[in-house]
Amino acid sequence: MADKPTREDRFSFGLWTVGWRANDPFGDATRAALDPAEAVRRLSELGAWGITFHDDDLIPFGSDAAARDGHIGRFKQALEETGLVVPMVTTNLFGHPIFKDGALTSNDRSVRRFALRKVMRNMDLAAELGASTYVLWGGREGSETDAAKDVAAALDRYREGVDTLAQYSIDQGYGLRFAIEPKPNEPRGDILLPTIGHVLSFVSTLEHHELVGVNPEVGHEQMAGLNFVHGIGQALWQGKLFHIDLNGQKGPRYDQDLVFGHGDLLSAFFLVDLLEHGGYDGPRHFDYKPLRTEDTDGVWASAAANMRTYLLLKERAAAFRADPEVQAALEASRVPELSQPTLAPGESVAAFRADRTAFEDFDVEAVARRGYGYVDLAQLALEHLVGARG
Ligand code: GCO
Ligand code: MN
Ligand code: MN
Repeated sequence: MADKPTREDRFSFGLWTVGWRANDPFGDATRAALDPAEAVRRLSELGAWGITFHDDDLIPFGSDAAARDGHIGRFKQALEETGLVVPMVTTNLFGHPIFKDGALTSNDRSVRRFALRKVMRNMDLAAELGASTYVLWGGREGSETDAAKDVAAALDRYREGVDTLAQYSIDQGYGLRFAIEPKPNEPRGDILLPTIGHVLSFVSTLEHHELVGVNPEVGHEQMAGLNFVHGIGQALWQGKLFHIDLNGQKGPRYDQDLVFGHGDLLSAFFLVDLLEHGGYDGPRHFDYKPLRTEDTDGVWASAAANMRTYLLLKERAAAFRADPEVQAALEASRVPELSQPTLAPGESVAAFRADRTAFEDFDVEAVARRGYGYVDLAQLALEHLVGARG
């Protein structure tokens, strides 16, 4: 059985996750407000390592300077008492009605200027608290009708906004890296930069592209019907997995933000396998919502469940990798062969064209008949996942 979570596991939670009062479009909150300092203490007791927040989670929108200092002071004190760290900070650019047409891409220029200043102010706090990652989730950047948004202009403004923020971090010496979080829809009908692929492509156009990566969320790619593990594989391959939001989702529907593993469990297994063996050393950040049916005890049970599920899957993935039968099956399926370059070392295009074994004398029919044995591999993975092997 998996060990208890420790700081070395680098588990972090958003203040807005355990603090979600469970108000939805159809009903009121079912839980009382959670004091941020209490969240720090409870998460620390459960074995978490970090806590993250939107500016407005910690300091209610419109607080005056004295109230602001008080909120920050109490939070800092809890951090000092517990040793919990703040690895990532983000901005609420979606809650207040001022952002109803977006923030960095609102048609209204004055809203864009206000939004940038709101982010900068919170970057000051992020740096003060020692955060290294700044997440940008553009939940309101988008539209409900294609008549409303000039997409090219919106992307120009998005680029201008992110480059301005990166420049601010450089000028201040904050050393922050930015991670853009894709989501296909909700709350906007269609959100700009809807998938990992859109973000990676957008980042390549930035002046400060080296400071900007992606913060993919399990459920958001799955809302778009995409394979999250493949998306993470490409983000890692491009050196752009700066952060990750772990949770659960059952296919393309509204954003469920379930506990990690409580959606597509097989995908969660392969995701943990990839994160643990694919070179990701960043935070394991949970962005989920405790079910609306749960009381306060249920909130903490769900926080613990995220970490426990991750550790159980990590254990199962390690057993899968170590199983000699799995290694033989991987070999039989030619999985390692894909790492071998298609052309030989130093082979010129001319030499390649002269290789008759590659084409003229190649036994196409014989090779086409050969099976790959992927079902065996998939079944071995499933059996490890359900604890039926080693
Ligand atoms: C969602 C989003 C948000 C963002 C968060 C960071 O579930 O729609 O994940 O939770 O991650 O607001 O800005
Ligand atoms: Mn979500
Ligand atoms: Mn998220």
